[in-house]
Amino acid sequence: MSEARRPLISGNWKMNHNHFEAIQTIQKLAYALNAEDYDHVDVSVHPPYTDLRSVQTVIQADDIPVALGAQNCHWEASGAFTGEVSTSMLAKLDVTYVIVGHSERRELFGETDSEVNRKANAVLAAGMTPIVCMGETLEERQAGAAESKVAGQVQGSLAGIAPEVVAELVLAYEPIWAIGTGETATPADAQQMCGHIRSLVADGWGAAAADGVRIQYGGSVKPGNAPELMGQPDIDGALVGGAALVADDFARIVNFRLYQA
Ligand code: 13P
Repeated sequence: MSEARRPLISGNWKMNHNHFEAIQTIQKLAYALNAEDYDHVDVSVHPPYTDLRSVQTVIQADDIPVALGAQNCHWEASGAFTGEVSTSMLAKLDVTYVIVGHSERRELFGETDSEVNRKANAVLAAGMTPIVCMGETLEERQAGAAESKVAGQVQGSLAGIAPEVVAELVLAYEPIWAIGTGETATPADAQQMCGHIRSLVADGWGAAAADGVRIQYGGSVKPGNAPELMGQPDIDGALVGGAALVADDFARIVNFRLYQA
């Protein structure tokens, strides 16, 4: 892992935890981590929209060095979009990172690369950082189409974004077959695809963008497998689902360095 790229460990809570449970979870996480645990790593939590204000209040009141994140957004600034939330609303809550194009959004809600691209641009325009997700299905992997699927997602989702902006982005490689299944990509497979993503960024946006962009791995990351995954040269962090709901487990993932061989 390049020293220039600070790992980002993000907890995607998905549709879990009401705002009372969210408050408990962030408080437990703060208790489980010491000040020095944040020295070499950035940490974010991504609660459901209805919890954001509560978690923001706890983070600020207790001065917790965890960034607030959202799981989604709309690309328009405001208007008649029932049920949607704009990036300026998120920025007003001091949200730092917004996940865009999570595979559950793509697969269950039909989000396209061009929509993900619009969302990423809206997040950037509001002064926040998008975490742009990509990954292949099991069928695509078995058919030998994983790299081409991910290439299309990188090119489509990041189209038109300036190289110096791409250098500051976070990408997340999440093989769909590894999400919530207990199946993890092997560290070698995860490294191979994250390296592929970095070379796609180099081809499209140049060496400086490729060197700067942070690439997370996601898909059944647990305390036990995080140290080896995070030890791969092109993996700069983790996007954690299930294990992020349990503060002690997430804290151990944040502290992956302590468990590395
Ligand atoms: P799990 O860690 O539960 O497999 O979820 C991964 C994920 O989708 C994070 O965004």
